[in-house]
Amino acid sequence: MHFIVTGGAGFIGSHLTEQLLSEGHHVTVVDNLTTGRLQNLPQHPRLRFLKKDILICQPEDFTEKVDGIAHLAAISSVTESLHRPLEAHHNNLSATLAVIQLCQALGIPKLVFASSASVYGNLTQLPISEDQKTSPLSPYGLQKLVSEQYGSLFAKQVGFSFVGLRIFNVFGPRQVPDSTYSGVISRFVDMMQRGLPITIYGDGTQTRDFIYVKDVVRAFSQALKANITPGSSLICNLGTGKPTSLLQLVDILKKYFPQWRAEINFAAPRLGDIQHSQADISKISLCLDFQAEWSAESAINGLIASSIIQ
Ligand code: UD1
Repeated sequence: MHFIVTGGAGFIGSHLTEQLLSEGHHVTVVDNLTTGRLQNLPQHPRLRFLKKDILICQPEDFTEKVDGIAHLAAISSVTESLHRPLEAHHNNLSATLAVIQLCQALGIPKLVFASSASVYGNLTQLPISEDQKTSPLSPYGLQKLVSEQYGSLFAKQVGFSFVGLRIFNVFGPRQVPDSTYSGVISRFVDMMQRGLPITIYGDGTQTRDFIYVKDVVRAFSQALKANITPGSSLICNLGTGKPTSLLQLVDILKKYFPQWRAEINFAAPRLGDIQHSQADISKISLCLDFQAEWSAESAINGLIASSIIQ
């Protein structure tokens, strides 16, 4: 089969590209290389790379039949979406419409969209199921939510099938550890590797549903190939269903860095930080037959073993 991966040179996209190639598929990566990096991608005879913004892609850019698009290209920083909402709007929402138009023009039967748990905002009822109220706290979360709605609307009108996967706290190799909005695991691993102190915002009892990038891309691959009625849409949480607190996380990491002696600083909670997050995973298990294989602890082991944090 032949799949397009937008944002395929980025953190999650490059892992998905590898996954699809390893399954024997042909992949066209579309990436403008704003945050993606060419060195994230392997040299492969079944891989075509198109350096282009998805917003200006034309149907003529794709000459071979396409069996599905995984749309991951985005400005993935919540902070950036707050500072530059219009730019985030173009990249996160208009870009989704551009992808939808490509599906229409090229008759692509399946669109799998990287949505986010940020669509929920600050929910207190755990685990979070897909039918709970959505109340995003950032332009990023709102753009992901409206993208899902556009996907569902046009799936019905155009006849392709749409899957939105609401990713919880993803981590793994190639996640950039040094940006203002780096995931906490990549940040802590990086600091510990360099013998530097870490900062916990809040008291460390907050929990997150940490999912390894290899599980995330397996879910995307299954969604791309799943038999879903044309014209219909499916929105699923993508997490492990298991919460880990930051204090537990630090204990796990300390086992891998026994030589790390720097201090743990406690600072005020981040503005808008949620206390607990945990995915209800029954829908993805039922509809896509997907379960995460990596626990936070085993995945951290894999991450450190690969030692390619960036
Ligand atoms: C994550 C996602 C975000 C998504 C949201 C949905 C990442 C990088 N971000 O945000 O895209 O919208 O889930 O729920 O996956 N922390 C520290 N010290 C640090 C860094 C972070 O204590 O140096 C804390 C944060 O304050 C937070 C927790 O660790 O309480 C997790 O932070 P982070 O990894 O940035 O992810 P979320 O804020 O949960």
